[in-house]
Amino acid sequence: MTTILATRRLRVGAALPLGDAILVVGAGGPIPLPEGSDQTYPFRSHAEYYYLAGHECAGGIMAFDPRDAGTAEGGWKSFVPAVTEGERVWEGRSQLPGLQLADFEAWLSARRNRTVANLGAQVRDIVSDATLSAAVREAFRHARRIKDEAEVGLIRRAAVATAAGYEKLRTLIRPGATERSLQIELEAEFARGGATRPGYGTIIGGGPNAAVLHFEPSARIVRANEFVLVDAGAEIDRYMADVTRTFVAGTPSSFQRDLHQTVLRAEQRAIASCVAGAEWKEIHLAAAVDLVTGLVDMGVMRGDPETLVATEAHTLFFPHGLGHMVGLGVRDGSGLAPGRQKDPRPSLRTLRMDLPLAPGHVVTVEPGLYFIPPLLNDPARRARYRDCVNWTLVDQYQDLGGVRIEDNVLVTTGAPEVLTAGIPKSLTVG
Ligand code: GLY
Ligand code: MN
Repeated sequence: MTTILATRRLRVGAALPLGDAILVVGAGGPIPLPEGSDQTYPFRSHAEYYYLAGHECAGGIMAFDPRDAGTAEGGWKSFVPAVTEGERVWEGRSQLPGLQLADFEAWLSARRNRTVANLGAQVRDIVSDATLSAAVREAFRHARRIKDEAEVGLIRRAAVATAAGYEKLRTLIRPGATERSLQIELEAEFARGGATRPGYGTIIGGGPNAAVLHFEPSARIVRANEFVLVDAGAEIDRYMADVTRTFVAGTPSSFQRDLHQTVLRAEQRAIASCVAGAEWKEIHLAAAVDLVTGLVDMGVMRGDPETLVATEAHTLFFPHGLGHMVGLGVRDGSGLAPGRQKDPRPSLRTLRMDLPLAPGHVVTVEPGLYFIPPLLNDPARRARYRDCVNWTLVDQYQDLGGVRIEDNVLVTTGAPEVLTAGIPKSLTVG
């Protein structure tokens, strides 16, 4: 076991509110495809297991007894299945390090009368305490938020592979390219850069599709002078980058330029605010005000930006939160600070997290402005925001799409470090 894993386990073990209960963390198992064959979805151990075990292992179990915290491994045991002949023959697997899974029963029965918390996947038919498990999961999430050196190192490598993909993409975005062809080339370049796989479903939308927040690339052909929004990141050993850039295939209009500039300015200001102690929700609100200020200057919205944000009018064009934590998963460790309840202010409804930033956090900063027909054509919204929006202008841009710009930021004891700074943000390509 590496020192980093040992340190991680000790830190997590000390942070969990187990009392005298024991903890089991399941990796989970492969999920068969619904086709009646021997094929499964690509296996990924549960992130809670992976964080502690440091390997993919179907059926693996990490177990922790706080009573053994003073022993060599700090009370942690890693149980792994014995590799079978079939697995050696068909998949070329070798035995993972750890205790034999068969010995888990003995470990458990020696603790027969103890309460059990179960994280990760359900471990066998163990009856665990659901309330305790939820509290332990929450504490685990808090303990995982601060990334250690190894984690940041992997995100850095993922960012480098992601940058290579975007560099290649710039040479390929042109009228006539399909969203899908761009996806194929981007993901191939990620792989050449060392990526294990894309970190999440790649999003590429041309024209109106750029306004679909999680658009799956289609056979649609990119047309001249329209937006192409690309949101994609490489993953290396389960750690990923999450990056968005918006391009124009051709010559942007002044409206497209203004929209892009507005988002870029909001993003840069938000990134500069990612310092230790800063409240994420305040950074989000300030970004929303910046975006609305730009829309007012462009003649799209009317009124005082702060008031427009307080009344949620910004969500017509910026319907998501400013970002989330990223690392071991695309939404790694987001959520609320310990003891915090969801802030009821309407202007914060779209936020994925509410916490003060701390050194070691890695967050995405991803403001966006979109023309989304299902929102803009909703009669209730049109009525509520009748005087806040220049609807005649908006109706001219129903097919425009949108702009999002996203970077991954490491919070430090000093200035924020942009891990994805190597990926240019210019609107035009070629
Ligand atoms: N990369 C997609 C998202 O953050 O929602
Ligand atoms: Mn994101």
